[in-house]
Amino acid sequence: KVMNYFLIWVLGSAASAVLAKQTFHGDKVFRAKLQTEGHVALIHKIKEAIKLDFWHPDTADRMVPHTEADFHVHSDQADSVQILLQQNSVPYEVLFHDLQEGIEAQLNNTKKSKRHSYTKYNTWEKIVEWTSKLTKKYPNLVQRIDIGKSVEGRPMYVLQVGNPDSATKAIFMDCGIHAREWISPAFCQWFVKELIKGKNNIRELVKSLTFYILPVFNIDGYVWTWTEDRMWRKNRSPSEDAKCVGTDLNRNFNISWCDIGSSDEPCSEIYCGAAAESEIETKNVASFIRSHVDSIKAYISFHSFSQMLLFPFSYTYELAPDHKELDEIAKGAVAELQGLYGTSYTYGPSASTIYPTAGSSDDWAYSLGIKYSFTFELRDEGKKGFLLPQSQIKATCQETTLAVAYIAKYVLDHS
Ligand code: ARG
Ligand code: ZN
Repeated sequence: KVMNYFLIWVLGSAASAVLAKQTFHGDKVFRAKLQTEGHVALIHKIKEAIKLDFWHPDTADRMVPHTEADFHVHSDQADSVQILLQQNSVPYEVLFHDLQEGIEAQLNNTKKSKRHSYTKYNTWEKIVEWTSKLTKKYPNLVQRIDIGKSVEGRPMYVLQVGNPDSATKAIFMDCGIHAREWISPAFCQWFVKELIKGKNNIRELVKSLTFYILPVFNIDGYVWTWTEDRMWRKNRSPSEDAKCVGTDLNRNFNISWCDIGSSDEPCSEIYCGAAAESEIETKNVASFIRSHVDSIKAYISFHSFSQMLLFPFSYTYELAPDHKELDEIAKGAVAELQGLYGTSYTYGPSASTIYPTAGSSDDWAYSLGIKYSFTFELRDEGKKGFLLPQSQIKATCQETTLAVAYIAKYVLDHS
């Protein structure tokens, strides 16, 4: 009898786990144009009462007058929030009237293909298969390095692209630190393709540079966004107080850890983790970079969205010792990018250009002596945000390739 109850309970919880895929029917995403301290205070008040999923900035605490705040509100509260914005004369836009529609539109009604595609968002399974095909097809150019497992046991693969015999200068790139930023892994995959079969000037790079490319940093989180919750950001490690899952991997690096722009609260979207490098994913990447630090001349990380090219520092408003040089490179890279389709990008030190964050990968790499350290915030400026339609993958990747190639060329000539 006791066993029966137990089985029914197991069935019940399994069934609800299957049915648990989160949907977002009627959820709204607002862009509030904050003009006064009063507007900021209002959003804080709302946030105390209900859950707001912040899209930009990364947390409500970073709101300031004369900036915009993008946040996602559950359908049950969307109307009330909209009325509050109106009553308090906060200018606003509704970015998504029905978030679920946006999620479905992201895949652009194209039929689901069985195969990996550079112009589509690929599942983790497809990405794994793609890595293994590449190494078989281009054994002299592409190696796959397993740098360790994620919390849930998935292998983290770094693709080494370049001549495997020579001890050349290297560039480390990662995508998908944050799970819901799907355009980022799409870019890493695209860039690997460009190195292998792109235009001459890109293919030439691998003669004198080795690229270490981690297409998905936060694999468990990425899988979670496909199967359970499209809006997931952090990794999937359980926290000590069990209630909330996940650490923000871009707050978990050992640089001014858990200070400005991060939180020690496990339920926060910017939770810094139990300690610096407490997360296995952070540790695997940090160990790999440490063990190749003599050859790695540049570190480039890809996020979305905001259309920005950022460089250190992020954990302080002070200017980095190499500020002038990094600023010049960013200016050149952004000009290249904009030259293709006119996409406008801003650039500058992370702290003042987007918002300050301690424990981030770019500052950490810089602190190791990797001078050329950059973070991209890819398309768009928030209209579609994390739900950038598949139809924009190609153009986004093409323009970004130009910027990355510019940085790579500079690094080759100056290090
Ligand atoms: N959007 C990213 C985040 O919240 C990057 C913010 C800029 N910080 C940086 N270190 N580049 O983690
Ligand atoms: Zn991010």
